[in-house]
Amino acid sequence: MDFDVVVIGGGPGGYVAAIRASQLGFKVACVDGYIKGGKYSLGGTCLNVGCIPSKALLQSSENYAQLSHDFGEHGITCTNPQIDIAKMLARKNNIVNKNASGISFLFKKNKITELHGWASFAGNNDGKWQISIDDKGSLSTVSAANVIIATGSSPRSLPQLKIDNKNILDNEGALDLPSVPKELCIIGAGVIGLEMGSVWKRLGSNVTVLEAMDKFLGAADEQVSKELYKNLVKQGLVIKNGVKIGDISDNNNEKSEQKAQNAQITINYEENGQQNKLVCDKLIVAVGRVPNTNGLGADIVGLKLDERGFIAVDDECRTNLANVWAIGDCVRGPMLAHKASEEGIIVAERVAGQHPHFDFNTVPWVIYTNPEVAWVGKTEQQLKDSSIAYKKGVASFMANGRALGLGNNIGFVKMLACSETDRILGVHMVGPFVSELISEVVVAMEFMASSEDLARIIHAHPSLSEVTHEAALACDNRQLHG
Ligand code: FAD
Ligand code: NAI
Repeated sequence: MDFDVVVIGGGPGGYVAAIRASQLGFKVACVDGYIKGGKYSLGGTCLNVGCIPSKALLQSSENYAQLSHDFGEHGITCTNPQIDIAKMLARKNNIVNKNASGISFLFKKNKITELHGWASFAGNNDGKWQISIDDKGSLSTVSAANVIIATGSSPRSLPQLKIDNKNILDNEGALDLPSVPKELCIIGAGVIGLEMGSVWKRLGSNVTVLEAMDKFLGAADEQVSKELYKNLVKQGLVIKNGVKIGDISDNNNEKSEQKAQNAQITINYEENGQQNKLVCDKLIVAVGRVPNTNGLGADIVGLKLDERGFIAVDDECRTNLANVWAIGDCVRGPMLAHKASEEGIIVAERVAGQHPHFDFNTVPWVIYTNPEVAWVGKTEQQLKDSSIAYKKGVASFMANGRALGLGNNIGFVKMLACSETDRILGVHMVGPFVSELISEVVVAMEFMASSEDLARIIHAHPSLSEVTHEAALACDNRQLHG
């Protein structure tokens, strides 16, 4: 079979690229090799074992935590609330399956050929790339003038550890624990560590997070990470920064399920020069991710990788090979689903000869803890380091009527604008539903808005967005409610 475009990988980068390429009139195939429960499942990490299932569990666990601790003040009481973990996981799996079949539906609607199996470059014949597909041992070859690589990433582990997804877990196992572990340890206080730690803490685990870096959540604005840290600790998460992980032993050497349920994992670590030991029932390892390039045939066709193993691309996602592009987690830049999708769109459009743009500075970040964290643009530290003069407006959710009604009035919005031009340079949020509030400022920044532009826009009352409005007003020292 011959195509105009073959996309390798059906995650949020690949499937979106395939749809956009098809909209632009190309004959498109998308090949994906992800297998779940013995069946191929489109959607990549994001849908199967990432963004979507984690948010489903975050919501279920938040509902349980609110019923257990917070609903009393609304006058709603419930003695001895229970959580049925099997049902919670089934709900999560339903959401995943529904969305995965939704992608197949979109492929059919857009006349995209859905191919299953592991794809690799086999060579190039007269300008056409030959892609070999291994579908559970059955081999076939397709050809295409253009190839978009969207193979995503996999969890990184530690050299002394073997992930078994029974007791020592990566993101996949962390999203599928059949019961609430009494003692849960997480290595890595990054995005996965904090989100998964929140889920299992809310459900009743004692959670300890061990983090190598001295600084908590170093990528976020410091004021925001301090606020998040304070609140997570208040919720009972034990977070230890600046630790060095040593030997880890798991007494679960026998295969019986009974043994697996009663495993004891011992983690030796160094903290402030002292040797410590932590014993837990389950261990989640969340120390970052590595690009999926193994088995892709990169060496066969001379596809260049960078020094960290990512596929080397230019600013427009071109690889070193003619008409071969790469997007998403397998290339440089933040490992975020919306970044992958946007790159998919712009690459499809570039294949069609269009000239779309992509601005890394306006890629929003969200962490779905409680309180949520969201940001876009430069942090205060980055502006200081680059000697850019800025003004700052900070407004709190504390007295916001909508936040009070929700029973969640923790946090603030911080807006940073250029001292000279007033252009918004960065916005940092911690608080209720900031995952939704961040979009307004992303739009504003894409339109190169000033803080005054936002200050002069009418925001509905009562709404959480009034806090963004107040932060914009505060940039000019004219906050009304602060
Ligand atoms: P992937 O989603 O990894 O998809 C790549 C696909 O290609 C996979 O199906 C893979 O099996 C397949 N593949 C690989 N090699 C081959 C091959 N040779 N042949 C055929 N198929 C192949 N991001 C957010 O923006 N928001 C979130 O809330 C969020 N939450 C997350 C939570 C967790 C627990 C994790 C692990 C990640 C989360 N992410 C989140 C990150 C997000 O999942 C990734 O950034 C995103 O999935 C990357 O998309 P992608 O298309 O590049 O790759
Ligand atoms: P991460 O990069 O966010 O965090 C990994 C953490 O592990 C870092 O803080 C790092 O310092 C620490 N670490 C590394 N080696 C260590 C060691 N030996 N001992 C102790 N700590 C160590 O990576 P994570 O959490 O695995 O997530 C991967 C990516 O997935 C994220 O970077 C993000 O791009 C994406 N993601 C996005 C989400 C969202 O958008 N809400 C949610 C979850 C994941």
